[in-house]
Amino acid sequence: MRLIIESTPERVARWTARYIVEQIRQKEKYTASPFVLGLPTGSTPLETYRELIRLHRAGEVSFSNVVTFNMDEYVGLPEEHPQSYHTFMRENFFAHVDIRPENTHLLDGNAEDLAKECADYEARIAECGGIDLFLGGVGEDGHIAFNEPFSSLSSRTRIKTLTQDTVAANARFFGGDESLVPRTALTVGVGTVLAARKVVILATGHRKARAVRHGVEGPYNHQWTVSALQVHPNGILVCDDAAADELRVATYRYFKDIERNNLLD
Ligand code: GLP
Repeated sequence: MRLIIESTPERVARWTARYIVEQIRQKEKYTASPFVLGLPTGSTPLETYRELIRLHRAGEVSFSNVVTFNMDEYVGLPEEHPQSYHTFMRENFFAHVDIRPENTHLLDGNAEDLAKECADYEARIAECGGIDLFLGGVGEDGHIAFNEPFSSLSSRTRIKTLTQDTVAANARFFGGDESLVPRTALTVGVGTVLAARKVVILATGHRKARAVRHGVEGPYNHQWTVSALQVHPNGILVCDDAAADELRVATYRYFKDIERNNLLD
């Protein structure tokens, strides 16, 4: 795993947006096939979306040949609900760049047959040649997408029940009222994320320090699903100083040192 530790959330966003743009450009050089990008919602990636929009406006990147697949969506929330992930993506990213609407994919949490919706989503990803880069955030309990603690590390897209921790954490988006937070969601699996050619997980703020510690220093295990990044050949965790608070000094120094000498970027 590569661990990038930046001083602030702004610098995390800048690093990540640059990295994504670079990956899009690299692929453009050798094929006309679209770049397939997996995307998250949540407060952490907001800054990265803003930075991508800025780079797009500065003429540094086009999303016209980018296909996206979002990680997850609540079950039963109308698409036009202000807190649906459909709305989030439209408002915070898609409406501000030159992506083609037909190239954006989100799970339909209102599908009549939810199991079929999940299977079809996996099939659509495969039809597009798999995901080039999956960007994600991490929950306080270490979940990626909605792969709550004890999710199978080889899971694929499916319906999941949210833990009380996640419902409580996400209540802030529903006016603080936990009863308004949907109890189930459709989510890509840990295995779906791991199947991407590159995976970049973002963690900012002290709230995420425990998840970062377990993900980096803890064992590969289903309680902290972010630890699955450890077995990915191209896994990158990008965090700010606050999210690195619980790492051992030796771990912190090791990764800082490695990146100082890294010529791979
Ligand atoms: C939700 C999402 C995750 C996200 C997590 C953290 O549970 N399903 O994809 O990573 O929240 O969100 P935030 O970035 O707001 O802390």
